[in-house]
Amino acid sequence: MELNLLPPKPDQLTFLVKPNPAPRSAEERAALLEDPGFGTVFTDHMVDICWSDRGGWHRPRVQAYGPIAMDPAAAVLHYAQEIFEGMKAYRHADGAIYTFRPEMNARRFNRSARRLAMPELPEEFFLQALKEFIAVDGDWVPSGDDQTLYLRPFMFAKEAFLGVRPAKKYNFYVIGSPSGAYFSGGVKPVSIWLSETYARAADGGTGFAKTGGNYAASLLPQQEASAQGCDQVVFLDSRGNVEELGGMNIVFVMKDGTLVTPQSDSILEGVTRSSLLQLAADRGHTIEERPVSLQEWRDGVASGDIVEVFACGTAAVVTPIGELKGAGFSDEQPTGSLALSLREELTDIQYGRREDTHGWLYRLDA
Ligand SMILES: Cc1ncc(COP(=O)(O)O)c(C=O)c1O
Repeated sequence: MELNLLPPKPDQLTFLVKPNPAPRSAEERAALLEDPGFGTVFTDHMVDICWSDRGGWHRPRVQAYGPIAMDPAAAVLHYAQEIFEGMKAYRHADGAIYTFRPEMNARRFNRSARRLAMPELPEEFFLQALKEFIAVDGDWVPSGDDQTLYLRPFMFAKEAFLGVRPAKKYNFYVIGSPSGAYFSGGVKPVSIWLSETYARAADGGTGFAKTGGNYAASLLPQQEASAQGCDQVVFLDSRGNVEELGGMNIVFVMKDGTLVTPQSDSILEGVTRSSLLQLAADRGHTIEERPVSLQEWRDGVASGDIVEVFACGTAAVVTPIGELKGAGFSDEQPTGSLALSLREELTDIQYGRREDTHGWLYRLDA
């Protein structure tokens, strides 16, 4: 007779909650939520789950937000095994808290994990971690116009060693940062600098993964963009095809109403882009995901075949592009009304002001 000594694989973890001994008072929290800006205010707690090659995922907990003790030889500090996600929690008019298509973030997180030779976090643990976090810090989800609690799940290699190989110990965290309207004073078209000196990603590289190194590589070109008076930077691949901005995908609207977005193995597949394109398809627009060359972009704008260009991502949702500037040229971009109307439809769904016909919302506080 064979004895199976392994316990059944759990689809839920049992979290330990260790409350913050000194949480902010309701008054302090209310003051912070009044005008939180972006990414500088943090809630009182964080999720922390360990992984080791021997024990798998273990020691799940919600504990006080605070510094993470780490050995100076921790692998992440040397070889950058780190991945993250970015998503938002929305408070609806009835007080309930939802997030948006979190299973897409969970799957993307695992695509990133595989590319960085890190352990995958089962999708149900990812979703549970968000709910456990909100169960403790749900009061930090603001209720003002365009306000959200930005959620940042991330994982990195904590094993202390200096050999170049995948680590055997990792920690997964979720932290939350209340954030206000991304654009104070309304959405305005941005200017984009075309980086031809620097690439963000290479064929076969890590461009499709949400890993810190991609963002580190985009900072110098972003500085170049600022020095050129531009708000953001857009990257090309080695064949001269348009990829994406430093932290947003790009979409072109054609004269006949078709929406075209770059197809590439080295860009991040945005949840926002996928959702906006679905909403546009629902309205009858044709969607094309295919390579778009810089030449096609510039010629299309010059001939009037391209009637709108916009960038999209979780943080800013949708940003019209008003200018493309590069070495020796500056092309004014046509702006229309589609980008902003899709933005409104999407945010209406996210905040519960419009019916969620696709089942995209996921309740976090129940
Ligand atoms: C490089 C990059 N591209 C695209 C996006 C858009 O992805 P999402 O819509 O899932 O936020 C992001 C993140 O916001 C990003 O960092």
